[in-house]
Amino acid sequence: MLAKDSKKKIILTGDRPTGKLHLGHYIGSLKRRVELQNSGDFDEINILVADDQALTDNWANPKKVRDNIIEVTLDYLSVGIDPNKSNICIQSAIPALHALTFYYMNLVTTQRLSRNPTVKSEMQLRGFNGNDTDDNEAGLPAGFFTYPVSQTADITAFKATTVPAGEDQMPMVEQCREIAHRFNTLYKCDVLVEPDILIPDNAAQRRLPGIDGKAKMSKSLGNCIYLSDDAKSVKSKVMSMYTDPTHINIADPGHIEGNMVFTYLDAFLRDDSQFAEYLPDYKNLDEMKEHYQRGGLGDMKCKKFLLKIMEEMLEPIRIERAKWEQNIGDVYDILKAGTDHAVKVTNQTLSECREAMRINYFDDKDIMVNDWSAWLNESHQK
Ligand code: TRP
Repeated sequence: MLAKDSKKKIILTGDRPTGKLHLGHYIGSLKRRVELQNSGDFDEINILVADDQALTDNWANPKKVRDNIIEVTLDYLSVGIDPNKSNICIQSAIPALHALTFYYMNLVTTQRLSRNPTVKSEMQLRGFNGNDTDDNEAGLPAGFFTYPVSQTADITAFKATTVPAGEDQMPMVEQCREIAHRFNTLYKCDVLVEPDILIPDNAAQRRLPGIDGKAKMSKSLGNCIYLSDDAKSVKSKVMSMYTDPTHINIADPGHIEGNMVFTYLDAFLRDDSQFAEYLPDYKNLDEMKEHYQRGGLGDMKCKKFLLKIMEEMLEPIRIERAKWEQNIGDVYDILKAGTDHAVKVTNQTLSECREAMRINYFDDKDIMVNDWSAWLNESHQK
């Protein structure tokens, strides 16, 4: 058997295709994925377009989910996810994930699922209040409630060791570890891997607030800058960003806490050379912040600088996206190849799980023929 440390390093991460990806996704996850992909430190990288999971709160609108599979994939390709290095696949087309979900459902209680903080807050957000009702819109749909189990299937089916994701996914990975551990213990095997989450190290990157200063950049709050926004809309969004309402005149002292321009600079500034290039008045962000706090630095100047930083990052993404948009057939082929590969890998895990549970009847005739005759003989003797 392989020693623990010679275990392959495998990444699995994913997104729900419910809309185009925005800067919060980029800084919280996509940028890191590209770095991990290019680091050469991982044996395998899998990126799952989680359309089944998206249906758990968009069941009435499968078209929205379907259309966004292509948007999300275009976002991946345009930020530098390289299909030769990373495997992009579609959840609903991978049958082993459904089968594993069904087995794992038995290894977790509804009480434990109810305590998952991410599920709790998402329930609240969607108005699934768990009232005694048969109305899907008001009650708690079973599919939505159990999506952490399906996410456990996603992660374990690929035998992922590492899940790069946002901070909000911590309870999901924790629940995944518990289920995997339970499976291995119960069926006395070493089939499933308990993964680690990898979250961004900078607070502004872990949870990027919206341009309006609200806690989170999110489509439903309408406070996003999308990776696919054109230069004109990025400009108007940056120029209308929430800053410091007490900073009325340029000479007034200003606050940088809760000021989106500085939060975004914290998140997106690449290095000090960007000051030399775009804002030579300051050597670095500390100097700029210090001047703002002291008074004498106007919001407009700060926003113009931030816009330069944003555009330096977004323009190449836009160009890349435009190229792929001209070749949708290629995008389809990438998804098809990635999904075919994922089907193979996950079927292998599924058969190992069935073997551990001794329910692989048609691979192992012995289970039925010999076990059954022994069992029949035993029961006849009684
Ligand atoms: N729940 C994740 C989100 O909402 C998406 C997701 C689905 C995922 N399956 C996954 C993330 C597996 C990491 C690993 O963003």
